[in-house]
Amino acid sequence: MNYRHAFHAGNFADVFKHALLTRLLVYLTRKDSPLRYVDTHAGVGAYDLSGPEAERTGEWRAGIGRVLAASPSPQVAGLLQPFLDIVRESFPDEGPRRYPGSPLLAKRLLRRGDRLMLCELHPQDVRKLEVEVGRDRRVTIEARDGYAALNAFVPPPERRGLVLIDPPFEQRDEFSHMLNALLKAHRKWNTGVYALWYPLKDPAGAGWFCDSVVKAGVRRVLRVEFEVSAYDPAGPMSGCGMLIVNPTHGIEAEARLLLPELARLLAVGQGGWKVEELAGE
Ligand SMILES: C[S@@+](CC[C@H](N)C(=O)[O-])C[C@H]1O[C@@H](n2cnc3c(N)ncnc32)[C@H](O)[C@@H]1O
Repeated sequence: MNYRHAFHAGNFADVFKHALLTRLLVYLTRKDSPLRYVDTHAGVGAYDLSGPEAERTGEWRAGIGRVLAASPSPQVAGLLQPFLDIVRESFPDEGPRRYPGSPLLAKRLLRRGDRLMLCELHPQDVRKLEVEVGRDRRVTIEARDGYAALNAFVPPPERRGLVLIDPPFEQRDEFSHMLNALLKAHRKWNTGVYALWYPLKDPAGAGWFCDSVVKAGVRRVLRVEFEVSAYDPAGPMSGCGMLIVNPTHGIEAEARLLLPELARLLAVGQGGWKVEELAGE
């Protein structure tokens, strides 16, 4: 458990992940009926961008820093607005800046009758998460393995909701863990929306993971990928992806608008993007 998200908060991968997560939640909260949000790898909830970790890498400046300074087209600005409104709340012109993690974004977007189940394994991060989002009756935080907990969390009583699986990819077999957790949960709850983030550090591994989901018979699968530079096996992470099972209505079209603009804003080399339906109804 060496991975610390504080070094990477607000980087291009977070912007990609959180922009899509926000669009999924915006859609799900349009219907009145309550929903459940499950975050298997929650992190600390909000990140101090003036802290030593974020300062050391400066990754956020090439990520959310660029997006906040840009003027995207009106259509894309509208899609990004719910995400950027929450970011701006913690982004004063002067003073310490913070970047909201997935639990905080979800907490801000969900309604009174919705519930959030958050898992985090690192004891220090659990304490921070409790301070950041724990004082809310809608939120349950469990200090346990998110993969194992997911099996106990589904199907949720609301029968509507979204599961975010966003592991640190410290382990070589992370794709296998993600696959097993998804398939197990999907067998119990095949109507939930599942969003699984992955890095493009091992394209063959990512391809294997996506193919395996489809081969296992999961229907309604969308693969979304985003690169800020050309893939270099010896270089830093150049891109990332999200596999979305049961994508919400309109997310595919929204991703096709958002990603070219994000690629334009965030590319440091040859950027690119891809939106592909891997399995239909
Ligand atoms: C990529 S970060 C999560 C970022 C967060 N989802 C966000 O978007 O703001 C991954 C987190 O998973 C935690 N973690 C690692 N292994 C875990 C496990 N098996 N179960 C739950 N959390 C785990 C790490 O401590 C780290 O905080």
